[in-house]
Amino acid sequence: MVKLMLALDLDKERALKVAEEVKDYVDAIKVGYPLVLSSSLEIVKEIKDICEKEVILDFKVADIPATNEKIAKLSLRYGDGIIVHGFVGEDSVKAVRDVAKPLNKKTILVTEMSHPGALRFIQPIANELAIMAKKLELDGIVAPSTRPERLRELKHLSNLPVLTPGVGAQGGRLEEIIKILDENDYIIIGRAIYNSEDPKKMAKYYKEKIRALSK
Ligand code: XMP
Repeated sequence: MVKLMLALDLDKERALKVAEEVKDYVDAIKVGYPLVLSSSLEIVKEIKDICEKEVILDFKVADIPATNEKIAKLSLRYGDGIIVHGFVGEDSVKAVRDVAKPLNKKTILVTEMSHPGALRFIQPIANELAIMAKKLELDGIVAPSTRPERLRELKHLSNLPVLTPGVGAQGGRLEEIIKILDENDYIIIGRAIYNSEDPKKMAKYYKEKIRALSK
C-alpha cells in the first residue's frame, strides 16, 4: 500500500500534540524548517519517541559540496533521511549522499516542485534531475501531486521511490495520483490534516482512502 507521510510544519507544542494524535494512521513524518526553527533539531528525537515512525528532514539542502557535507553531518545526527536540491549540481548532491549512505540514511532529491512558481525555473530541468537521482543511486525523489502526468514521468525516469506533496491544500487529487504510485511511494499531506478540526480523524480518513484506492 502507498504510504502516508505527514508534513509537520507547526511549532513544537502543536507538532508534538498532532504527532501523538495521528500516530496510528501515518507511516512517516516530514520535519522541516518551520518546526526545527521554532524549536531545535532535537525535536526529531522527541517525535520519534512519540510515534516510532520514519522521520525525513525536509531541509532542501542547496549549497556547495563542502557546506552540504557539513549540513548533512549535523542534520543526520537525527532522523532517517534528508531532502536535497539537485539544481546546484551533482557534486553537491553526492556530498550529502556520501554522508548519508554509510549512516544507512536516505538522500531524497527534489525534482519538480508542486507550486505554480516551479513551472518557470525548475520544471525545465526536472527530468534531468530525476535521471541524476537514478544515476547517483539515491533513495528517492520528490515529485508533484499537483501535476499527475509529471509525477508519472518523473517516477518513470528515476525508477526510485517517490515522495509526493500537493494533495489537499495545494489541490492535488488522491484519486488521480494513487494509480501512478506503488507501495514504495509516499503521499505527503500537511495542512489538510493538521489544520483540520480533528487531525486524528482526518489522518484516519486519508489512510483509509489510500487503502481503498490502492486495491
Ligand atoms: P501541504 O500543507 O501543502 O504540505 O500538504 C506539503 C509539504 O510538502 C512540502 N512541499 C514540497 N517539498 N518539493 C518538496 O521537496 C515540493 O515540490 C514540495 N511541495 C510542497 C511543503 O514544504 C510542506 O511541508
